[in-house]
Amino acid sequence: MFSIVQVSDSHLSPRLTHFNANWEAARALLPRLSPDLIVHTGDVTLDGADAEADCAMAAERLAGLPAPLRVVPGNHDVGDPGSAAQPPTAARIARHERHFGPPLWTEDRPGWRLIGLNSQVIGTGGDADRAQRTAIAEALATLGERRIAVFLHKPMLLDAIEEGPVGYWAVPPEARDAVRPLLGHRNLRLVASGHLHLWRLASHGPATLAWAPATSFTLGTRLMPEPRGAERQLGVMRHVFRADCVETEFLRIPGAEPLVLDDMVDEIYPPAPAAAS
Ligand SMILES: [Fe+2]
Ligand SMILES: [Fe+2]
Repeated sequence: MFSIVQVSDSHLSPRLTHFNANWEAARALLPRLSPDLIVHTGDVTLDGADAEADCAMAAERLAGLPAPLRVVPGNHDVGDPGSAAQPPTAARIARHERHFGPPLWTEDRPGWRLIGLNSQVIGTGGDADRAQRTAIAEALATLGERRIAVFLHKPMLLDAIEEGPVGYWAVPPEARDAVRPLLGHRNLRLVASGHLHLWRLASHGPATLAWAPATSFTLGTRLMPEPRGAERQLGVMRHVFRADCVETEFLRIPGAEPLVLDDMVDEIYPPAPAAAS
């Protein structure tokens, strides 16, 4: 048995400091949870895709956690394939790696293979997408009887792999072929994502689809009118890995201020032509 604490969407910045204190509140909770590993599922930074200072400051705030740390990139860290202004270029991904380590990783624990993916390049057809498909194929080819847990920022799907487009909120349907070998694998037990700033647990066969809450802000009814059964709360997720399953629980962050992006989006992500989590 081992445990992972998943933190997500800290949106840290030295310029717009609204969410930094909530990260410190989340950080203060971590030692009490005694995790074996901490995984940050992206949007570490407020705007690391363009602001080196956000990356540098966030890396400082993530240093010295009470367990080893793995990070996967979010749209605000490396860009988004749906964004003309901030596409996920090789330069942006390289900058993220300099500050937070590899955007694509595999780590084995007894009985388990943990796979961290860069959701921002899934199905884009570029070099990073091709390298990631190859890494997925290799991870599955050498899997043996290990169970699989996947960590990524943007969910691979919201409710079902057959669903149509869900806009900004998940990997687009036409891109999902890149991750079908994982989603259809009989040993998959957990897909842990961020990005939605809401938390929810759902099932995908024997696997749990865990939407982690943000540490920074939630989305209100203007930016997220339909929460699909999810909860609008700040928090962290704790995953306990057993022989053949993962037990996941939501934990509130003591002392966190319940900030809602709807109230401040024009200041944080102007002009916010689309929702900005
Ligand atoms: Fe995001
Ligand atoms: Fe976010």
